[in-house]
Amino acid sequence: MNNFTTLGQFIIEKQADFPYAKGELSRLLRDIGIAAKIVNREVNKAGLMDILGSAGNTNIQGESQQKLDVYANEQFISALRSGGECCMVASEENETVIPIDSAVSKSAKYIVAIDPLDGSSNIDVNVPVGTIFSIYRRISPEGPALLSDVLQKGTEQVAAGYIIYGSSTMLVYTTGRGVNGFTLDPSIGEFCLSHPEMKIPENGTIYSINEGYYVHFPQGVKSYIKYCQVEDEASNRPYTSRYIGSMVADLHRNLIKGGIFIYPCTAAAPNGKLRLVYECNPLSFIIEQAGGRATNGSTRILEVEVNTLHQRSPIFIGSEQMVLKAESFMNEVF
Ligand code: AHG
Ligand code: MN
Ligand code: MN
Ligand code: MN
Repeated sequence: MNNFTTLGQFIIEKQADFPYAKGELSRLLRDIGIAAKIVNREVNKAGLMDILGSAGNTNIQGESQQKLDVYANEQFISALRSGGECCMVASEENETVIPIDSAVSKSAKYIVAIDPLDGSSNIDVNVPVGTIFSIYRRISPEGPALLSDVLQKGTEQVAAGYIIYGSSTMLVYTTGRGVNGFTLDPSIGEFCLSHPEMKIPENGTIYSINEGYYVHFPQGVKSYIKYCQVEDEASNRPYTSRYIGSMVADLHRNLIKGGIFIYPCTAAAPNGKLRLVYECNPLSFIIEQAGGRATNGSTRILEVEVNTLHQRSPIFIGSEQMVLKAESFMNEVF
């Protein structure tokens, strides 16, 4: 008997929590796990493959699409298409939604929104990158799924997770009953339970924000950054500044150690940079399930109305006490 629990075994064990489910969600999570292993294989030898650098085009975000953005996107869409449990994919890398209308999939229950490769600017410099996924139940009646099926509030998510391709590769996910982390054991090609029932510390001493944009931040954010930097032994300040540029990596560190990640609005980007559907909502679901807090500076992220697929939102996410403190500065005006 092995002394580890694989992702597959865990999903089946937890299946009992969902008496109404007939295994579709379990199989969908399995399909995502398979694609993650394929992407991990390429990430781990990216320097030896022709997979670094730009793909030579600009995506709907106006970003220079990286080869690994394209590769990861293709792998996850292919795994979801062949798995048969997903009737539509929404991806950061595709302007419009991708209905999957094969005989098996077109009546499938679930929609998947995905950021196939998060932290693309870090690919060529061997800094951790990630994948983020969010799963919804379709709400449209029979027939091809519709855009409205994915424009659901974050509170409607059935599951959410991320993969971090770091010093080790981990898959962290929630189905609304806590957060569990699995580490890929390359010797057996399985994600094994390594971080059961993950909880984010209620407070912390790490703040993550791109201070290069300081002059463009709202006054409240500037004041909070200064608060983090002031010497105050009683509240363990000054805090430590840690910012990787891959949201998954910054968030994963703060989930384990405690901390706050902020990507606020600026004059140039009034809704911030991060995308609500496939970055903010899934990561907020996870952090809330781990006991943390995620808002746009005033409103709970999961309650923000979703109007367009690539909608952006400011985000304050992490340890509850730190997010509350940062929010208290947001009443300040420019
Ligand atoms: P993506 O690579 O999926 O486009 O996301 C990048 C995001 C996020 O991962 C990261 O926190 C943020 O962009 C970094 O933005 P800045 O370089 O503007 O700080
Ligand atoms: Mn991108
Ligand atoms: Mn991203
Ligand atoms: Mn991305």
